[in-house]
Amino acid sequence: MSFPFISAEEAASHINNGDNVALSGFTASGTPKIVTIALAERAKQFHEKGEPFKINLYTGASTNDYVDGSLARAKAIGMRAPYQATPDARKGVNNGEINYYDPHLSHMSQDLRYGFCGDIDVAIIEVTEMNPSGEVILGAGIGMSPTIAKMAKKVIIEYSSYYRTSFRGFHDNYIPLDPPHRREIPVYKPSDRIGSTVLKIDPNKIIGVVPSNESESIKAFTGISDVTAAIGHNAAAFLANEMKLGRIPKEFLPIQSGVGNVANAALHGLAENPDIPKFEMYTEVVQDAVMDLMEQGKCGFASTCALAFSDEAMLRFMDNINFYRNKLLMRPFEISNHPEVVRRIGLIAMNTALECDIYGNVNSTHVMGTKMMNGIGGSGDFARNGFLSIFMCPSIQKEGALSAIVPMVTHVDHSEHSVKVIVTEQGVADLRNKDPYQRAKTIIENCVHPDYRPLMWDYLKYAKKEHIGHNLNAAFAMHNTFRETGDMRLTDFSKFA
Ligand code: COA
Repeated sequence: MSFPFISAEEAASHINNGDNVALSGFTASGTPKIVTIALAERAKQFHEKGEPFKINLYTGASTNDYVDGSLARAKAIGMRAPYQATPDARKGVNNGEINYYDPHLSHMSQDLRYGFCGDIDVAIIEVTEMNPSGEVILGAGIGMSPTIAKMAKKVIIEYSSYYRTSFRGFHDNYIPLDPPHRREIPVYKPSDRIGSTVLKIDPNKIIGVVPSNESESIKAFTGISDVTAAIGHNAAAFLANEMKLGRIPKEFLPIQSGVGNVANAALHGLAENPDIPKFEMYTEVVQDAVMDLMEQGKCGFASTCALAFSDEAMLRFMDNINFYRNKLLMRPFEISNHPEVVRRIGLIAMNTALECDIYGNVNSTHVMGTKMMNGIGGSGDFARNGFLSIFMCPSIQKEGALSAIVPMVTHVDHSEHSVKVIVTEQGVADLRNKDPYQRAKTIIENCVHPDYRPLMWDYLKYAKKEHIGHNLNAAFAMHNTFRETGDMRLTDFSKFA
């Protein structure tokens, strides 16, 4: 069977108002780049005629401006899941134009298969190679491609010719059986392959193939600041000491590293610490720093869901592809984030918090408790099940007007029951085997910025002394003071005495 080449506009014409549309890829990597632009134009044409046009959009994770950006600006997104990070989609989520569902990433594919989100009307899948029987080689990210390829009623292929080297061999396509037939996920170490390098798509469902030649358009990280470097240094020193104490085995344990500037700096911290031996990664996304770690011989293998390299780093990757062939494996996020595997292999989970409270609860998603930043992503999959769950953040934000450590977080993504260690540029708070007051003490002494330490002790002074010391009238006083004056440092807890 050969598939017709069609234009992006023709492909988009197969997508209708109210359709559930699912995309390949994870972050920008492997995510379609052409059809969604045409779809945004199609939505605008409907809107100009006064007719409704919105799709429900399910993706691997955050996408790119080709997807979330253009569709959000065209007001073409109804329901959106599971993670977004573009400014326009974030605006739409926060002003109520987009209905945002934010599950743990490891749940998304099975939520779809279990029918929790309805049928998948159309899947748009970026591929880098394909044959007439519908066998494809995916691109730089898998996301939930195996599940959506299986479930979708219609499939549109975006055929990318951007990559000048073949990705064949980097993927591990796998779908677990659904309950009551589910068996173990047979990954016992990061490099274990359990699936197929090729994804088979039913050729009868393929509407057509849209040629594309776009890069992932991922920008390189800006330099590491003194603050993020100190966070990375502190996290690495803590892990090196754990190994010295014999709590981390001498072979070390696999690392998971989150998204963003802080996570990127943490990896550099691991690279620079001479007491951290060569390690492996079991993570959902590898960024540029992992290429550096591999080239330095510090990281021997990384299992991931996507190669989220900046365009610059991707060119470097393609130039040296043979060096990486036996060092990287891409899996669906259902597997890269699978709680069973995370628990089994003893993962060291390193994620970033927006704010933490003095008892160890973490908010990773909602600024001031109400405004969505990106989403929980895979942080919950890893934090709940890791051997060690570390959360990192700068102790202050906005030139000190905000403390990232507060009496009570305004939104809980990761509770005190999962969070084992908090790291800021000030130091490390080890929360293991500590009661709430002991946790508060170590967090205040080691992680809170000096400008805020007296305030935190003041809060505890006016807190009710029960198992957890809180004063419910004052728990959000720092946030309220920031809203009213623009500076948390002006909080006066004495009025809650
Ligand atoms: N209150 C208000 N704003 C805050 C804040 C707080 N407590 N903490 C951070 N911010 C703001 C920063 O000022 C910055 O704003 P700017 O863009 O205007 O400068 C922005 O949030 C990002 O902060 P930064 O310190 O640069 O963090 P980051 O790039 O490392 O990202 C998260 C941090 C939490 C947003 C990001 O890691 C995330 O989305 N995490 C959730 C998903 C996840 O953990 N996935 C990992 C699984 S692999």
